[in-house]
Parts: sequence; C-alpha cells; structure tokens
Amino acid sequence: MAAKVKSRQDHSLRLGVNIDHVATIRNARGGEHPDPVRAARIAAAAGADGITAHLREDRRHISDRDIRALSRDIELPLNLEMAATEEMLEIALAHRPHAACIVPEKRRELTTEGGLDVIRGRKKLAPFVAKLGAAGIRVSLFIDPDLEQIDAAADLGVPVIELHTGKYCDSEGVARAAELERIRRGATLAAKLGLECHAGHGLAFDTVGAVAAIPEIIELNIGHFLVGEAIFIGFDAAIRRMREAMDEARAIQAGMGKPS
Ligand code: PXP
Repeated sequence: MAAKVKSRQDHSLRLGVNIDHVATIRNARGGEHPDPVRAARIAAAAGADGITAHLREDRRHISDRDIRALSRDIELPLNLEMAATEEMLEIALAHRPHAACIVPEKRRELTTEGGLDVIRGRKKLAPFVAKLGAAGIRVSLFIDPDLEQIDAAADLGVPVIELHTGKYCDSEGVARAAELERIRRGATLAAKLGLECHAGHGLAFDTVGAVAAIPEIIELNIGHFLVGEAIFIGFDAAIRRMREAMDEARAIQAGMGKPS
C-alpha cells in the first residue's frame, strides 16, 4: 500500500485543494494518468490542509475508485462534495470522509453553477444533514452569499457553510466589488450564527486575496485554476503560490504585514 501523507502545517486559513480536474484529464484518455492520489500527495507537500473531491452522479471526473483510494492512502482530511441523493449518502457513509459538502447538481451544467436553495430544499436536505452528522462527518452546505440562505442553513443545524465565490470571480469592476461585499456580509452573519464559514469556486491568484482577507472565512476550496496553472508552472508551484497569496492577504488584514 502507498505511504500516507499528512500536511505539516497548521494554518489559520485552510486550503482545500480540489483535485477533480486531475481526474478530468485522466478520463480524457482513460487509464491511470494523471493519478488524483499522486496529485493529493503533491498538494499535501505543497501546503494544502485538505483534499476536496466531487463524486458527481455522472462520474465525469472523480470515480468511486478514486474516493476509495483517497480515503485509504491520504491522511489529509478528505472533503467529499456530493449531491443530496441516496446513492451519494451510501457512499459517504461507507467511506466516512472527514467532511461532506452538499452541493446542488444538474446533469448538463459544466460546473456547480450556483448554491443550494436551503430555504425551499429544507425538507429534502434535513435527513442528509442528520445522517451524515450522526456518522461523525462534518457537514457543510454550498450556498450563495445570500443572508436568507445562511439563516436557513443555521436553522438546519449544519456546522459549516461554504459560500459560492463564482459570481465574484466572474464579474468585474463595480459588480465584483458588490459581490465581494455580499461574501463579506455573508461571512459576518455566518460567524454571528456560530457557523464555520468556508468559500470557494473559480478562485485564482488575482481573486483569492480579497476573499482570504475576510477574517471569518477559515477555509478556501480551490481546484480548476490550480490544475490549469499546473500546466505552466507545475502543481506544486501553483499550490505554493496560492498558499502564499492567501497567507499574505490574511497577514495584511490582521495588521501583521507580509509574512516572511
Ligand atoms: N467548492 C465547491 C463546493 C465546489 O463545488 C467547487 C467545484 O467543484 C469548488 C469549491 C472549487 O471550484 P474551482 O474548481 O472552480 O476552484
């Protein structure tokens, strides 16, 4: 069996590296290369605090075998992104990852386009939250930075929410500033309600700093950009640079200046 790998660092702002698109590239040809477990090991050595993988219903990237291998071979906490379906619940309960992030899933979408509607979906989501939580899995809900959705998530009793940063990343100028403000207000409310606040989707070197500087956010999950950037500078270097950008923004926000 391959050696297990742990992160050596203890960060105030955690980085979860999403390795879905390592599997996308592998699946373009079938076979074993590039191997998401190898990518997870590189991520651990480069300063990731966790590994995130989305087992989609159509298995377009991460496979059941990947989840088995990641659960077995990687010591970093595994965050399983999953739709609220019986099939995914069964898989989560079988592997008992450290965390499960419930995401909305539409078959035709290119990526997770928006957050869950927790207000309308409360009845459907409640048993998933309860069963995952009872199994000792830290449950989070992926939602837009919408105050009513955050309230609804707190009402459902989840310990964690992840705010969707896609709109912030995809917009420009005044619209981007407004989206950032929504994320800030959302994170403030989450903290007030006792929710651990995470964020992610679409983050890149030029967008991560402003989100990392929000003190209530304690974890970022980043994937597509890192895998893309790996083509140019390598996966290890891309993760290290992202880590630096996060830590620098956090240190400046905390009044500590640039980390040495
Ligand atoms: N967080 C969640 C809940 C996601 O669904 C995704 C995409 O799978 C990400 C973070 C990472 O987004 P990206 O790959 O755009 O960095």
